Amino acid sequence: MLPRLLLPIIGGVLILLIVDQCNGKRKWDYEPLSIETYTTDETKLKIAAKVERVGRGEYALSGNIEFKYTPEDNTMVEAMAYRSTSGDENDYKIMPFSIPKQPYVEFMNSHYKNVVLPNLGDCSNLIKFDGKFEPPWPQDTYVLEKCVANSDGFPDMVPEGYYKVNFTLTNPVDWGFILIVKITTKLV
Ligand SMILES: *[C@@H]1O[C@H](CO)[C@@H](O)[C@H](O)[C@H]1NC(C)=O
Repeated sequence: MLPRLLLPIIGGVLILLIVDQCNGKRKWDYEPLSIETYTTDETKLKIAAKVERVGRGEYALSGNIEFKYTPEDNTMVEAMAYRSTSGDENDYKIMPFSIPKQPYVEFMNSHYKNVVLPNLGDCSNLIKFDGKFEPPWPQDTYVLEKCVANSDGFPDMVPEGYYKVNFTLTNPVDWGFILIVKITTKLV
């Protein structure tokens, strides 16, 4: 009799465990559509990037960033995000989600460490560090090789639509990129 009573309990616990595992998984898919780069001074910073198709419905980001300057205390990082439901250029509306303009060292110790590295660390030679970032950021050519972000550090739920992110560094050269990504809800 005892095992019979226990079975539904064990089953229930198993289901709970499985459901629990499903939580915290992202419920959306993304597809990078385009990336555009800009720089006001190629002698200080040169950047090139592209979205590549790497398989059926799979896209990856590749790029090169040649750092020929050393960011200073007045070097600022900022990112603005826009969303459009149709993908129409005139439809993009600014979103509260963004990276407020901040000194680059602050960015290194927050978004860079928590979002950039978990997503791009393995497919690039971007510098990695434990604990706190110690300036200076080394002058080097940083290469991103077919990066498929795994979305660590992003919310589980993201409304469907087209997202445009304008990521900028300022002082002593202004440079950055504009990335357009399409988000769709996962069918379960
Ligand atoms: C991107 O941001 C930079 C710096 O704020 C700005 O000059 C530029 O016009 C922006 N581009 C777009 C397409 O939003």
